[in-house]
Amino acid sequence: MKKLFLAASIASLMLSACGTHDETDEPNKQQVAEKKEQHKVTRKDGVTYVDGHLLVNKKVSLPSDYAPGENAEARKQLDRMIQESRQDDVNLVFRSGFRSYETQQQLYRSYVSRDGEAAADKYSAKPGHSEHQSGLAFDVGSVDASDDFKTSFVKTPEGQWVKDHAHKYGFIIRYPEGKEAITGYQYEPWHLRYVGKELAQTIHNEETTLEEYFEVGQ
Ligand code: DAL
Ligand code: ZN
Repeated sequence: MKKLFLAASIASLMLSACGTHDETDEPNKQQVAEKKEQHKVTRKDGVTYVDGHLLVNKKVSLPSDYAPGENAEARKQLDRMIQESRQDDVNLVFRSGFRSYETQQQLYRSYVSRDGEAAADKYSAKPGHSEHQSGLAFDVGSVDASDDFKTSFVKTPEGQWVKDHAHKYGFIIRYPEGKEAITGYQYEPWHLRYVGKELAQTIHNEETTLEEYFEVGQ
């Protein structure tokens, strides 16, 4: 993973404080590069955070005993989102949330025995690598369930609504279409990750992923 340091941001702050450029100056290439380098990676008790946001993906794992349960704020926003979707006649429903390391292990094993490891790795995280273990990820579906956990979910009113509105509640579509090589997973229009409203809005606007935004390898 690319190492990112606070030094660049401190240097940039000092430059601004010294008044070496005024507000009308266009940032030069080096300043843009420095701005991009400002994400801060930290680790606490084996959990990785970038700018304070928990990161778990194919390369970055969670400890097997990390079991925070469902994140209360994330669940509150999910419930609010589901409730407000009703105003648009959308029948969005909660399908799954927190999963322990052990549950993910059982699931992954069952997928590997059914489809083989290469296929399973495209749609299921290995134990220790699932966002569901963080308590910050939720799978949603439609009341009628016929397109649940399928890419066709995006064509349902519920899937479309989530794509257009989830960021307002602090969620991102964590594994977007066309980003399979970056996230390592197939398109999952139903898998939402809570990152808070500010980052969710940015990621939505930039049509990007956590890996690209944080410039961390996959
Ligand atoms: N389906 C996602 C990648 C998971 O297993 O966490
Ligand atoms: Zn999921």
